[in-house]
Amino acid sequence: QRFIKSMSFALCAGAIAAASSMAHAATFRVAVGDGAGSAQHALGLKFAEEFKAKTNGKHDTKMFLNGQLGDEQATINDASMGLLDFSILAINNVTPFSPTVGVLTLPYMMQSLEDAVALTQGDVGKELTENTIRDAGVRIVGWTYTGFRVLTNSKKPVETLADLEGLKIRVPQNEIMIDTYRAWGINPTPMAWSETFTGLQLGVVDGQDNPYLTVSAMKFDEVQKYITDIRYLFSIEPLIVSEAVFQSQPADVQQAILEAGQTATEHSAKWLVEQEDKIKAELTAKGMEITKPANGEKEWMEKAVNQVWPKYYDQLGGKDKLNTILKSLGRDTI
Ligand code: MLT
Repeated sequence: QRFIKSMSFALCAGAIAAASSMAHAATFRVAVGDGAGSAQHALGLKFAEEFKAKTNGKHDTKMFLNGQLGDEQATINDASMGLLDFSILAINNVTPFSPTVGVLTLPYMMQSLEDAVALTQGDVGKELTENTIRDAGVRIVGWTYTGFRVLTNSKKPVETLADLEGLKIRVPQNEIMIDTYRAWGINPTPMAWSETFTGLQLGVVDGQDNPYLTVSAMKFDEVQKYITDIRYLFSIEPLIVSEAVFQSQPADVQQAILEAGQTATEHSAKWLVEQEDKIKAELTAKGMEITKPANGEKEWMEKAVNQVWPKYYDQLGGKDKLNTILKSLGRDTI
């Protein structure tokens, strides 16, 4: 008990010290889970440019790509303690720290870029931002729109759920995604993002899912052959700032962070539209084979929606809440 108390005190003291030293920092550190050329990187570049301009060059950011500052989920802990300023990471890696964010990883909830923009920029996005501050001590100040996560593997073309049998598929530590694969009939392998490339390379796992942009930026084409063009999850990746660091900044710097985040978010949507087809063609030219899921993905969708959604109604604020969201997207209610 005493040990826990003294540990919490040490952590708080560390957070306060770190946050106050950050208050005058000219350069903020930004952890980035993905590599150069990724949607995360593009968001970070735009944010850096805007933030510097808005603070008249007084403040700057430095990005650390490819998880150099730790695995994506670990960066949430560091930011919440004020030991890290910013992180750009996939939304699926935020959910374990702030469960209501799971609405953005519910299979087939978002069916287009427009849905993703509507959810993140509207009331849902505002509420989730407040929830992550409360639950995880981090504030969402920007979003990437990275496109639908497609399934890749090294063994065989996958068209039907039956084809999944026998494949070892890596998923993030995200209960909703784990349950989605279970609904599809296999037990996936949860693995940290930072270990995924090596896991695929060594054959610890045969496959994974992530958007075309991420598959390319992470050079998964070197260790994966087959793509199934599923559309179960539109990937969005928030730019978060440590709430302790944010609160330690003067109002003009806080404003610059928020405005730069908004501009970078708008840029990300345009960037996806410009890049995705080109990247897809490049992956094919490098030897990857793209397969469409059978019957317009009907079985994939039915299994995931029927088996996964009901399990998460409570965690996500109830069925009525999900219906309000579905209505706002112009879709049928459940
Ligand atoms: C994941 O699969 O853990 C994430 O989508 C990785 C990423 O940040 O691109």
